[in-house]
Amino acid sequence: MMLALDGRRPRRPNPLILAIAAGKGGVGKTTSALYIAAQAARLLGGTAADPAVGIIDRDESRNLTRRLGLEPDLLRPGTVFLPGVELPPPGCGLDLVVLDTPPGHLSLDSLRQAQLVVVPVLPETNGVITLTEYLDNLELHRITVSPNMRLVALLPTMLMRTLTHAQRLEDIRAIAAHHRPPLTLLTPVPRRTRIEGLDLDAPEYEAPAKELFAHAGIATASARAD
Ligand SMILES: Nc1ncnc2c1ncn2[C@@H]1O[C@H](COP(=O)(O)OP(=O)(O)OP(=O)(O)O)[C@@H](O)[C@H]1O
Ligand SMILES: [Mg+2]
Repeated sequence: MMLALDGRRPRRPNPLILAIAAGKGGVGKTTSALYIAAQAARLLGGTAADPAVGIIDRDESRNLTRRLGLEPDLLRPGTVFLPGVELPPPGCGLDLVVLDTPPGHLSLDSLRQAQLVVVPVLPETNGVITLTEYLDNLELHRITVSPNMRLVALLPTMLMRTLTHAQRLEDIRAIAAHHRPPLTLLTPVPRRTRIEGLDLDAPEYEAPAKELFAHAGIATASARAD
């Protein structure tokens, strides 16, 4: 097994693979991938010299790649952008790899090797209607192609303080509860200009990321520092 650069052993022989995926476009997949990766690196104690978290762009529209090309400073210490679409080799020293994926039902191929899947969803009528269909497709994909994949959570995104959004959030809550097995509903991310501007220090992803990591069994910095 390869040693991390500062001589510490990586916590995992292979990173956990977390995909951010949704049946719809423009729901915050890329944004969530970046924020969740940043939060994970913070939690896991990753540094620039010894990154804990890798990010892979599996969306052929390459939004994430382009954005990071224009603004490389977006990458927070402890996170590393991995070129290409394939996973890093075993023993790479990372604890977690976050996959950004394209929208739609035809995107299931981008979930290959994913162990955990988080689905961002807009609290809007269209988003809720397509959600159940997408979850069914994911389940079919799991049964037929990826038995190791686990759908872990729904992440409501761009929540506004409107009655409609509150109602759609309740719909999402019901879908999560009735799913078998029931899905975790993460703390919704509000719509904020600061988030849109990819200020990765914005605190709104802290709660959902912590819930996700606790639920997914992604350990903390103390475990990594052993
Ligand atoms: N919480 C938020 N508040 C405000 N704007 C947001 C928030 N989350 C995402 N956005 C904005 O919404 C738009 C869509 O987000 P993003 O690109 O992350 O979605 P996506 O699901 O990856 O889209 P695509 O399907 O095209 O890949 C972007 O302009 C992004 O900056
Ligand atoms: Mg995207």
